[in-house]
Amino acid sequence: MSLVKEIAKRRTFGIISHPDAGKTTLTEKLLLFGGAIQEAGAVKSNKIKKGATSDFMEIERQRGISVATSVLAFNYRDRKINILDTPGHKDFAEDTFRTLTAVDSVIVVIDVAKGVEEQTEKLVQVCRMRNIPMIVFINKLDREGKDAFDLLDEVEQKLGLKVTPLSFPIGMGFDFQGIYNIWEKNINLFSGDSKKNIEETIAFDDLDNPQLGEIIGSEAADELRENLELVYEVYPDFDKEAYTKGELQPVFFGSALNNFGVRELLDCFIDIAPSPLPKKAEEREVVPTEEGFTGFVFKIHANMDPKHRDRLAFVKIVSGTFERNTPYLHVRHNKKLKFSSPNAFFAEKKEIVDISYAGDIVGLHDTGNFKIGDTLTQGEELHFKGIPSFSPEHFRYINNADPMKSKQLEKGINQLMDEGVAQLFTLELNGRKVIGTVGALQYEVIQYRLEHEYGAKCTYENFPVHKACWVEPEDEKSEEFEEFKRVKQKFLAKDKQGQLVFLADSAFSIQMTQQKYPNVKLHFVSEY
Ligand code: G4P
Repeated sequence: MSLVKEIAKRRTFGIISHPDAGKTTLTEKLLLFGGAIQEAGAVKSNKIKKGATSDFMEIERQRGISVATSVLAFNYRDRKINILDTPGHKDFAEDTFRTLTAVDSVIVVIDVAKGVEEQTEKLVQVCRMRNIPMIVFINKLDREGKDAFDLLDEVEQKLGLKVTPLSFPIGMGFDFQGIYNIWEKNINLFSGDSKKNIEETIAFDDLDNPQLGEIIGSEAADELRENLELVYEVYPDFDKEAYTKGELQPVFFGSALNNFGVRELLDCFIDIAPSPLPKKAEEREVVPTEEGFTGFVFKIHANMDPKHRDRLAFVKIVSGTFERNTPYLHVRHNKKLKFSSPNAFFAEKKEIVDISYAGDIVGLHDTGNFKIGDTLTQGEELHFKGIPSFSPEHFRYINNADPMKSKQLEKGINQLMDEGVAQLFTLELNGRKVIGTVGALQYEVIQYRLEHEYGAKCTYENFPVHKACWVEPEDEKSEEFEEFKRVKQKFLAKDKQGQLVFLADSAFSIQMTQQKYPNVKLHFVSEY
């Protein structure tokens, strides 16, 4: 099949949600529809069990699962669907942000009772910044929850989205009868035993048909008619272009656990979600259907077996095809590399493949060549944009606790930082190393992995930093910048890329610094 046709078949997306909203359950049901798994319960939840945050076994369990669920691929209606796993736990938010650079669209899952939660807000904000097309799935309709219109309002206000419902619930919780599918103009009735079966739908394009009352009861029928009238009045018609640009978000209602409303979501997703999109590199924009292969590393996973220290680097193919045993240029190292056993993903299995297409993810065995954000090409000097680091939330000095093992410690720290477990800052004044993380959990992960994978020991020391600000002087040679560097030298560090960072101890200090040195810009993101 031609390159263009293969690429047009692909849909690469992520599901984002606050923990417990139903991401794992929905993923599993999607795989069931694709025939990729045979029964429910096959997809493991990658979430961290409550109260287990300091349990190392739990950390290892989580890492194991996260390899298995990094990419879940299946075929459905002649489409190849790649779901990229996005951890919901806030301590792994950085991982999710990076994965969002490799998706072409997302589905946002919201719990009907809890509404928009904190983690959803943060993740949607990142998607909005990148104009990623989003579909919203309101889950757990089998339970009592918020009024549908109130929820739609909440989604618009808290997430800053513009929504249009493509399905609408008939009742809720105990009285939940099903959904009216606005997209397909039919009714899907809910029955407790629809759990395993793929539901049947009743076509219903004329809502005035008195049969409606016979099916769902006259009261419910009247209510549905009123609700839909309001929907048509208040919300804009679905517009694919607006959706693709990230300006309009369709909403579906359902119950993932009961496999209800999931087919509607999937069918619509297949119709509207974009195939692989062009991606900007510093040099130019790369279009997926270009013949030449290009791709970038968005995730690195260390092998859990300490005897085999190789890692798996996940590459999103941006253009062309990736072929086995073909030399590709590792742009940062200016070196050609060949891969004899690239992994492709299908459901929960990975297997060696000869050829993968733009939109797909390949897993490459790596002995330490790769870093998150690295670009691979057929020979062109390209640097893909868009894997920025965000300011960490926690900062600690890291000290060597075993002077005999300083080499191991250094290597371990470097490799863990390349994997994106945390960020390393080196103080300008004295060369001390500071580790910045999104969640406190990462410190334990680092300590544990340094010891078990590299044989090095470390201790931490508190370092009170409020935010890391990347420094951009208007003029590097100006007196103002020289003074800034002199006055703030105790708080200046270099990140791993060698960019200058100001480690501010309070919001107040950032404000004051900005006032005093207006021509030295401070950014909370490494790419500005
Ligand atoms: P997550 O990945 O977003 O964290 O959520 P997950 O799918 O693990 O779902 C969280 C909990 O919500 C699970 O229950 C799951 O069974 C339940 N759930 C998901 N979808 C629905 C739904 O449509 N209706 C209802 N009533 N519940 C739903 P749990 O008790 O935490 O876990 P489990 O022991 O059942 O697996």
